[in-house]
Amino acid sequence: AAAADLAGRHVVISAGGTREPLDPVRFLGNRSSGKQGYALARTAVARGARVTLVVANTGLADPAGADVVRVETAQQLHEAVFKAAADADAVVMAAAVADFRPARYAAGKIKKKDGEEPAPLELVRNPDILAELSAARPKPGQVVVGFAAETDDVLANGLAKLTRKGCDLLVVNEVGEHKTFGSEQNEAVVLAPDGTRTPVPYGPKEALADVVWDLVLQRW
Ligand code: C5P
Repeated sequence: AAAADLAGRHVVISAGGTREPLDPVRFLGNRSSGKQGYALARTAVARGARVTLVVANTGLADPAGADVVRVETAQQLHEAVFKAAADADAVVMAAAVADFRPARYAAGKIKKKDGEEPAPLELVRNPDILAELSAARPKPGQVVVGFAAETDDVLANGLAKLTRKGCDLLVVNEVGEHKTFGSEQNEAVVLAPDGTRTPVPYGPKEALADVVWDLVLQRW
């Protein structure tokens, strides 16, 4: 990639995993480390872009040169991404967003009572940020990229998801107990609506990030 080929562009990246609180001490969460999103931010800064990184619950230090916005829940991520996306040339949703959140938040710690069965956990749907953004395109010509972690039928599920979400690119990777989450490495295939598939061999998350920016550049 050329040194400053993203110069003059504003890109928004979400990273990490949302937490959906049940009470002051508990939440529903996921295993996303945020490393792929941070790799996207570092490479975009290196290539000259203005970068807004919306971070959900990572233990990682802010990448140099990016504007960092920290959030906790999917609803907060939704608000922060849409705010930043208003003038963004590309939005890359690398964050793992909870599809559901607890229907109610208990202001005090939920207690267990002797001899009582646990209460069922009632969930409600969170907004699908990627699908909403793909439909809205707040800035004309904006390129929207999603990620999909699949455990089986990776390609078939990826293609169906690309259509359902309406994004321009979908980075699909296979996840399992020892794959991808928390790792420095990734292996993926990037799918486009025209049927193009760009396989990215097992390697550093920066390498995958650079392929994503190359494909975004082509779409601009
Ligand atoms: O449907 P699934 O969660 O597998 O889709 C993954 C992609 O959709 C990721 O890019 C993720 O950031 C995005 N997503 C979202 N809002 C949700 C759920 C997922 O933007 N509520």
